[in-house]
Amino acid sequence: MHYNFDEVINRQGTNSIKYDFCEKIFGSESVLPMWVADMDFRTPDFIIQAMEKRLQHGLLGYTHVPDSYYEAIVRWNLHRNNWNIKREWISFSPGVVPALNLLIMAFTRPGDEVIVQTPVYFPFFSAVTNHHRKLVTNPLKYSQGSYSMDFDDLTGKINEHTRMLILCNPHNPTGNVWPREALARIGELCLQHNMLLVSDEIHSDLVLPAYHHTPVASISDELAGITITCMSASKTFNLAGLSTAYLVIPNARLRQIYDKMLDDVHVGAGNIFGFIATEAAYNHGDDWLGQLMTYVAGNVNLVKEELAAHVPQIKVVQPEATYLVWLDCSELGLSPEALRHFIIRNARLGLNDGPMFGHEGKGFQRMNVACPRAVLHGGLIRLQEAVSKYFEK
Ligand SMILES: Cc1ncc(COP(=O)(O)O)c(C=O)c1O
Repeated sequence: MHYNFDEVINRQGTNSIKYDFCEKIFGSESVLPMWVADMDFRTPDFIIQAMEKRLQHGLLGYTHVPDSYYEAIVRWNLHRNNWNIKREWISFSPGVVPALNLLIMAFTRPGDEVIVQTPVYFPFFSAVTNHHRKLVTNPLKYSQGSYSMDFDDLTGKINEHTRMLILCNPHNPTGNVWPREALARIGELCLQHNMLLVSDEIHSDLVLPAYHHTPVASISDELAGITITCMSASKTFNLAGLSTAYLVIPNARLRQIYDKMLDDVHVGAGNIFGFIATEAAYNHGDDWLGQLMTYVAGNVNLVKEELAAHVPQIKVVQPEATYLVWLDCSELGLSPEALRHFIIRNARLGLNDGPMFGHEGKGFQRMNVACPRAVLHGGLIRLQEAVSKYFEK
């Protein structure tokens, strides 16, 4: 079956964060929203139909999570990631960000140090600081347009107070799919220093053609024993509004501690539609996902071609995964404040401002390209016209 990703769907007036909160976020309603990480593509029919079928029953009381949900997760991970997980390793979370917060609460104490690799998805920062733990950054190295991990810096930052490293694999916003060797080295350091490895793998299905995701916990049993992996079908199939994610925790002791925290704050029940949607996504989503990523790759190429041709001062960091494009705007020569102002006021684009991801994000903007190509093209024209007007002056 052919899926149509060119369809433009009006999301305005649906309480969409991306569309209906532009005034609040950017101080302008006229920006084209290309920021928060959900997609402007329709959630696939096989998911909507599964939810409709359940809705027709007409009664939505407290509900048990069916075995078929766990089985779908096990099968999906085996087949997509070659990762053989067991049903009992799977725990619930009402989202990956809530999970990060719960994990910090469950496994660290105030004053403990937690390492994150910047620039990185900004809720990693608040998950640490909200609970009065100490945030330690291990900035990625940026060289010749691409990012890699800095192991010398990382080794130097680990001390007796370091309890946890939060990995982002694939990495948001740089789009890295971390190679097995880098993951193994991170794992070794965590094992050596008795640190818990929390791996946010929410973008793992969204690998671009030619790339392959490795779950860090799949590398060895030893590593699986200290790793908690956070996953969800939400990014992949556009289900973020269902607030459903899962954690894979092979170590029974760690799982018990996490599940207790989940119970203590009474957020473990989930919602009927989150489970139904995840199961339908994983049972029927392969073909749709293949077509989605081909389309996203086409969009990434469009950004690269248009910018190279018309705005060569802005460089694209080639993503290996995600539908997020990290744009190096440093050659425009604007201060962080001026760049932010220029993108909103002159280009009339609603992007994520680089410094949100840590100060290494200065000079960068993050563009979400999970939209119909015509919309993306319109956004690139806005950027191109703004640059030529502004720099002609
Ligand atoms: C790396 C990463 N983790 C987590 C999330 C959000 O997860 P959730 O909506 O399940 O809290 C995002 C959303 O953009 C993300 O990019």
